[in-house]
Amino acid sequence: SHRTLTDPFGRTVRSLRMSITNRCNLNCIYCHNEGDHGSTGEMSVETIVNIVKAAADFGVDRLKISGGEPLIRQDLEEILSSLPPLRDVSLTTNATLLKGRASSLKEAGLDRINVSLDTLDPGKFRMITRCKRDILPSVLEGIDEAVRVGLTPVKINMVLLKDINEAEIEKMLAFTKRYKGDVILQLIELMNFRDAAPYHVDADKVEEELLHHATDVSTRTMHHRKKYIINGAEVEFVRPVDNTEFCANCNRLRVTADGKLKPCLLVNDDLVDVSHASPGELPDLFRLAVSRRVPFYGHERCSLE
Ligand code: 5AD
Repeated sequence: SHRTLTDPFGRTVRSLRMSITNRCNLNCIYCHNEGDHGSTGEMSVETIVNIVKAAADFGVDRLKISGGEPLIRQDLEEILSSLPPLRDVSLTTNATLLKGRASSLKEAGLDRINVSLDTLDPGKFRMITRCKRDILPSVLEGIDEAVRVGLTPVKINMVLLKDINEAEIEKMLAFTKRYKGDVILQLIELMNFRDAAPYHVDADKVEEELLHHATDVSTRTMHHRKKYIINGAEVEFVRPVDNTEFCANCNRLRVTADGKLKPCLLVNDDLVDVSHASPGELPDLFRLAVSRRVPFYGHERCSLE
């Protein structure tokens, strides 16, 4: 179909970010619980599939599934195998529950994964995730398995944390480089609010430092994102903070775990409930949500609370 979802600012939605649960087995010190607005309800497989189909009819061809921790849902493979054909289906996971499941996810239609991994140090991992058990080894085995079954490129989401993992970037680069292009490092600037504020690091400074010490650097820009090849390892910077570009180029629409369309990833209001909508009602509800999309940065509605 030639119908698209274009907002009042001319931004066309091409990608759906769907949370399928707010439950998580970790409790990261900086987590902004994206998509969680206090509700514990979860969508059924049928509801999820109907929502994705309605979006796909508008030309939305990318889906990112997240949580909470999406692997907590045992029916994730069923969800994946019931989706309409899409160009790119990815999953954001902490990978603690990935080992033993990567191939069934791949077979069900998952294309690739993003793994939240901020440190390779077991003590720091426990500190950041507030998890007492030593689960870093199983995360690393999960990543290995994902690479082996072709859930690639695996992107490592490393949130930059002051005095915690700043000094570990080189080590993380060496780690990703071992996978020869199958693993990409994404350095993410912490969204600086509430409890997380003391950990905030300026990503521009990190970028400058990194480039200063690198012996071999090349750059390319894709989808408005700058990519580096630093000493043979691929690195991307993700900077949602104070970045008008982030909003200007936003083509994503979020669905909360309890089935609400969220016009802006960074604001928790103006939600459109689609949890009980029939397939016939979904197109108008999508249009309504998209009509409410307002850029967060570079616009007067620029405060978090
Ligand atoms: N700032 C930036 N990114 C965050 N994430 C979660 N909380 C924050 C935050 N406060 C992102 C990380 C993590 C993913 C699940 O969400 O990239 O890997």
